Amino acid sequence: MSLPLLFDLTGRRVVAVGGGPVAARRVASFVDEGALVEVIAPWICEDLHDLYAAGLITWLDRDWAGPRDLHGAWLVHTATGEPTVDTAVREAAQAARIWSIDATCADRTDVSVPARRAVATPDGTVTLAVSATGDPRLAVAVAEAFAATVGRGEVDLRRHRARTGPGWVALVGGGPGADALLTARALELLRAADVIVVDRLAPRSILDRLPSTVRVVDVGKAPGHHSLSQGEINDLLVAEALAGRGVVRLKGGDPYVLGRGGEERIACQAHGIPVEVVPGVTSAIAVPAAAGIPVTHRGLARAFTVVTGHDDLPALPPGSDHTLVLLMAVSTLRQSMATLVAHGREPHCPVAIIERGWLPDQRVTLGTLADIADLAVARGVENPAVIVVGDVVTLSPHAS
Ligand SMILES: C[S@@+](CC[C@H](N)C(=O)[O-])C[C@H]1O[C@@H](n2cnc3c(N)ncnc32)[C@H](O)[C@@H]1O
Repeated sequence: MSLPLLFDLTGRRVVAVGGGPVAARRVASFVDEGALVEVIAPWICEDLHDLYAAGLITWLDRDWAGPRDLHGAWLVHTATGEPTVDTAVREAAQAARIWSIDATCADRTDVSVPARRAVATPDGTVTLAVSATGDPRLAVAVAEAFAATVGRGEVDLRRHRARTGPGWVALVGGGPGADALLTARALELLRAADVIVVDRLAPRSILDRLPSTVRVVDVGKAPGHHSLSQGEINDLLVAEALAGRGVVRLKGGDPYVLGRGGEERIACQAHGIPVEVVPGVTSAIAVPAAAGIPVTHRGLARAFTVVTGHDDLPALPPGSDHTLVLLMAVSTLRQSMATLVAHGREPHCPVAIIERGWLPDQRVTLGTLADIADLAVARGVENPAVIVVGDVVTLSPHAS
């Protein structure tokens, strides 16, 4: 039986006998931990040579000369490939009561080195160390599997401690609905949150993989069916944070693009609650991209405007080389298309409707300002959808 311990090697002398790749890997990790490493070997491999050239180790360019080589060492490592030498080093270390690692023999070594993986978590870096007697590959495989599991947020790392002080709110842009389009910061905060307040169009499947102790509050708004008013959502965020909880407000797309993120931030800050805003992949750009439409394209469009279809359309550039991206515009489609023609756009200006962009049942409908409303009715177009108006629509593979 062995007791796993963590050694602080900072500023401590470590002697490594042998200069091959096994020694190089271990020496590099001793150096990383701040040890003062002396390598004793008549020849050293390239990786050790790099450490030596960088001044990170000292090198005695000769064979092991006996117990006096261990003078002042806290730890000894031997991997010479010569069993008699490795045994002599180990025995000399034992006689001097210095802990030693014999990398060539798992059965006889006094100290064994576990497989290690460092994982970044919202509460700091966690080091996973795994030992599997006599089977380092198994140890590495298990360490990697655990690191990946923790990294995906599948282990509940929330500390069950008495809460002091206020909590926090993160307004997190979740992208257009596919987990793959969540940002790394979004994932980190989802792993740290006690409560997640989620929108209808935010990615959902990630929530199923979080620990069951995380409370998910669905404030999803279907058009015309507001389950909570914006004021009630603001109050909910404030109340949860004031109770000391970490709150992720998971929103579709980007919080600041037609997403009322500004209002939520102001409401929280008015109560002194720390707020982090995490940008997300906005549907205004990503959903056209899902249909193969770049919102700008050299020679076709130099600018684009994102506008809500909720309200009457304002005056917009009429040229088909200026791309218009309409969100929340399905129910007002006919009226919006007529307004654009009335404002000077050509009736044959290309239009695309992309429903449920990035989701498995994404659908694209193509037409012109003149006929898209009839096509949408015929095909039963529904929310959520992004409407793109302009010459760039012709670049969609669906157009050919
Ligand atoms: C309230 S706005 C929020 C926009 C969001 N903040 C963003 O940056 O994408 C909701 C509108 O975004 C669009 N939308 C969001 N996700 C979508 C998706 N996956 N497919 C198509 N449209 C989407 C629709 O026009 C929907 O009505």
